[in-house]
Amino acid sequence: MQFTYFNPTRIHFGQGQIATITSEIPTDKKVLVIYGGGSIKRNGVYDQVVSALAEHQWQEFSGVEANPTKETLDKAVAIVKHDDIDFILAVGGGSVIDGSKYVAAAAHYDGDGWDILTKKHDVVTAVPLGAILTLPATGSESNAGAVITKKETADKLAFHAKVVQPRFAVMDPDVMKTLPERQLINGIVDAWVHTCEQYITMPTNAMVQDGYAETLLRTLKQVGDQFAERDNDAWRANLMWAANQALNGLIGTGVPQDWATHMIGHELTALWHVDHGRSLAIVQPSLLRNQIEAKRAKLEQMGRNVFQLSAGEDLAERTIDAIEAFYHSLDVATQFADHGMSHEQAVDTVVKQLEHHGMTALGENNAITLTQSRQILQNALV
Ligand code: NZQ
Ligand code: ZN
Repeated sequence: MQFTYFNPTRIHFGQGQIATITSEIPTDKKVLVIYGGGSIKRNGVYDQVVSALAEHQWQEFSGVEANPTKETLDKAVAIVKHDDIDFILAVGGGSVIDGSKYVAAAAHYDGDGWDILTKKHDVVTAVPLGAILTLPATGSESNAGAVITKKETADKLAFHAKVVQPRFAVMDPDVMKTLPERQLINGIVDAWVHTCEQYITMPTNAMVQDGYAETLLRTLKQVGDQFAERDNDAWRANLMWAANQALNGLIGTGVPQDWATHMIGHELTALWHVDHGRSLAIVQPSLLRNQIEAKRAKLEQMGRNVFQLSAGEDLAERTIDAIEAFYHSLDVATQFADHGMSHEQAVDTVVKQLEHHGMTALGENNAITLTQSRQILQNALV
């Protein structure tokens, strides 16, 4: 175990906390408020932002889509450059926050912002930003990552840069009241898979990381099991906090990480617009079965400590079945048929994109080559 850990995002958690942005953003800043398709106008979040920024100089940019595109975000980059914006406030889910990170970084770069995603440009400076989270799922509100799509070529790529991590994040569980069922479920699945990506690898005897990951998994399982009784403050707060903790860097410090499910899932979203969380449920069970020998010990540990399964030679197999059953209990599919092609064509298309994106040695052992990905996709797609 060897690491440096620093999470510089100040978190304001709880009801009424949106008002804290008044003092979080200096009044001498020119602020750009970035949001999505308008859900914040229908649930009172926008009004709370307007009243909190009453003494600030600010303007807005709306229309950031789910799975945010470079094409849309470049319009915001032009505004930031032209109007000398020096603070960005992202108000939305992972897409708006990720999109705002891209805008913050691209605005301090003279070339094409897509260079950030292809790693041609290394991000060392960005406009400072803060976030008001409206959908618990990605953890983007207090991490340094962002995932951006180039519509033109159906590329969905990630970048990480310390300077785009939000200075503060407001998490008021009340904002979740207007979330459609589908998005709440996406959030549970995404946070669950984030935890798995940092936990179902190989034993390293990192007791704190393992123990906390198991707490998060048990919490998410319980939240999912109580989905029908979700209309209460505790349910919302537990999901919001668990999703944040799953990807704020803590459980991944000093331990191996996988992320292959995410890399393959991103291709399904880029090609066929599968919701991010749902893309993961399609890939993960098949991937775990493909990698079962390398992951057997951790799957057994998860079976014992998360699902309370009994001992036995097939414990790892039963753990994967339990993960899959959890998704099915939320009405989330673990196979995908809606690609409009033959099975072989669909598998080929994803494999080609993985190759094109350099995703040829994925997972904690770099063992998921294109051959493995092809096998995983044979079962994940129908
Ligand atoms: O655009 P609006 O009108 O706001 O509607 C959104 C959107 O349609 C709606 N919504 C959000 N909050 C709402 C609400 N509707 C009603 N009430 C509210 N309070 O929900 C829809 C989906 O929003 P989106 O932001 O796309 O969802 P999510 O938070 O799941 O973000 C997904 C994106 O994050 C990326 C994904 O790849 C995907 O692009 N990820 C980012 C990560 C990171 N930065 O660390 C890690 C993740 O693994 C993930 O890859
Ligand atoms: Zn995710």
